[in-house]
Amino acid sequence: MTLKYNTFQSIADIIRHQTNHHPTIGMILGSGMGPLADEIESPTFIPYNTIPDFPKSHVKGHEGRLVIGKLQGKTVLVMQGRVHFYEGYSIQTVTMPVRVMQVLGLKTLIVTNAAGGINTSFRAGDLMLITDHINILGMTGTNPLIGPNFAEFGTRFPDMTSPYNLELQQKARQVAKEAGIKLHEGVYACLSGPSFETPAEIRFLKTIGADAVGMSTAPEVVVARHGGMKVLGISGISNVVVSQPTEVSATTHEEVLEASKVIAPKLITIVKGVLGQLPTEPNRIDGLA
Ligand code: HPA
Repeated sequence: MTLKYNTFQSIADIIRHQTNHHPTIGMILGSGMGPLADEIESPTFIPYNTIPDFPKSHVKGHEGRLVIGKLQGKTVLVMQGRVHFYEGYSIQTVTMPVRVMQVLGLKTLIVTNAAGGINTSFRAGDLMLITDHINILGMTGTNPLIGPNFAEFGTRFPDMTSPYNLELQQKARQVAKEAGIKLHEGVYACLSGPSFETPAEIRFLKTIGADAVGMSTAPEVVVARHGGMKVLGISGISNVVVSQPTEVSATTHEEVLEASKVIAPKLITIVKGVLGQLPTEPNRIDGLA
């Protein structure tokens, strides 16, 4: 299904009518990362199922609502739960919330996910700053920008040489260091899922330079960059992957959710620290753009 620009506009209008906040920063929270949204002050909650045409997740660990409010003095619009391509949505629908953020004027996107650790120095419960990605989904024909170009947002052939903003990465490193949180760095590979990877697929991913693997994020980042947003991405390493066939070690979604209990507090510290370092928002008077 090709989405229309006015669909993004109508959803943005619905959101505007339900909150007095004027968010400048968007956040997408991955599996088990929802507790971050509990910290938001004077929140407006908008369940996805009350927004016409908005995709809804059916995956455990994804709450399914927008939370709009203040965090560290910044006005944020948080997606508490996201949808995935493997749920059967088109990749344009999966990334539609990022388009809505762009219509709302958000300039920064902070994206988190749960990922499998490929780099052998990673342990379950660790964090990885995403420095780059390999969008295998996109490379195999499921790029979210396929179809007519939305010139309102960006150019037909957008540059992807710096998908993850260097300044935001630097802020995240600094915050993690000050808080004594180990923050690995690496390349995130995005596959469609929902089946986890075979050992041969893991060896392939290792060979091509991936440090972590997951089933989200890259499409949203491609759309965010197309629309000129600055992106910060952090993976929570929920499990380490297996590169040789074995009978005993299986990756499960329960394992992913369990690890998020260790990951979420560290991630919250880093995200709040980065938000705190972003420039103060201009005062706004309602009714003015
Ligand atoms: N593979 C793919 N996606 C994931 C994994 C994994 O091991 N862990 C969490 N999301």
